Amino acid sequence: MTVFAHKHLLGMGPLSVEEITLILDTAESLKAISERDIKKVPTLRGKSIVNFFYEPSTRTRTSFDVAAKRLSADTFSLSASTSSMVKGETLIDTARNLQAMRPDLIVLRHPSSGAPHMLSRVVKAGIINAGDGINEHPTQALLDLYTIREKLGRIRGLKVTIIGDISHSRVARSNIIGLTKMGAEVTVSGPPTMIPMGIEALGVQVVSDPAIAVRKKDVIMLLRIQLERQREVLFPSIKEYASFFGLSRKMLQRASKGAIVMHPGPLNRGVEISPDVADGPGSVILDQVANGVAVRMAVLYLLIGGAKGDHLDQGR
Ligand code: CP
Repeated sequence: MTVFAHKHLLGMGPLSVEEITLILDTAESLKAISERDIKKVPTLRGKSIVNFFYEPSTRTRTSFDVAAKRLSADTFSLSASTSSMVKGETLIDTARNLQAMRPDLIVLRHPSSGAPHMLSRVVKAGIINAGDGINEHPTQALLDLYTIREKLGRIRGLKVTIIGDISHSRVARSNIIGLTKMGAEVTVSGPPTMIPMGIEALGVQVVSDPAIAVRKKDVIMLLRIQLERQREVLFPSIKEYASFFGLSRKMLQRASKGAIVMHPGPLNRGVEISPDVADGPGSVILDQVANGVAVRMAVLYLLIGGAKGDHLDQGR
């Protein structure tokens, strides 16, 4: 039996294949809770979780909040703009003050890469990285792995292409680590200015032309163009990016029959993905969001749920 012996979830690197599989299997058993009339079990009753989001978020923040509430944990939200950080309090002092209130977990999103790792060294609570700068977004990768397995029945041996701003994407980094670990074959594509040098060392193939990169692939994952993280112009114009790298229905026809289209959101419709593809039959974008709740329930449960296997059936 796989034991999940982690206090924090900071990135995909420390997770073994068995631990990732345990998270996905646990999410599968928890997903049904969200389909019921009464969407709540007492598994994490008495536990406290702080959602500390120092950057905007729709999906991740709501998803962690919903996941915690479905497991009966108490949740508290803090954002930079409504905290005393606007008065000059540092992240570490803020975290130490939060720690004084004895939360079991702090879910942190922060614009600086490495911020959750630093917090994990100064507070007693477990830390979940909900996206740190351009570094990692592990729960996004886990919900993407879950969605791929759910839709295509496996991960090992699948061919996955990730298109977009690979350099600035924490989603790409976490997915590359997770997908290669789980045995998928990963290709990345995008303007050369958006592909980090030496990325092949992570076990991926670089194919500059997206029309070639999608050929016979099982999964096409698009990334949002993150203008807010670019300090210089990395491509001539949005229009040019859209016409060359945007996934159109015509380009998608080159992928394998039954290929799925993924995007972590938020979407730039008409830029990295055409609206008809985003809403088309191969799109699993909203399934990713739904699965995010189940996967985050699994992560919360495995990190602070106590004895493995306890309570999962209560309330059914
Ligand atoms: N995928 C994702 O992280 O979306 P949010 O920024 O809305 O949380």
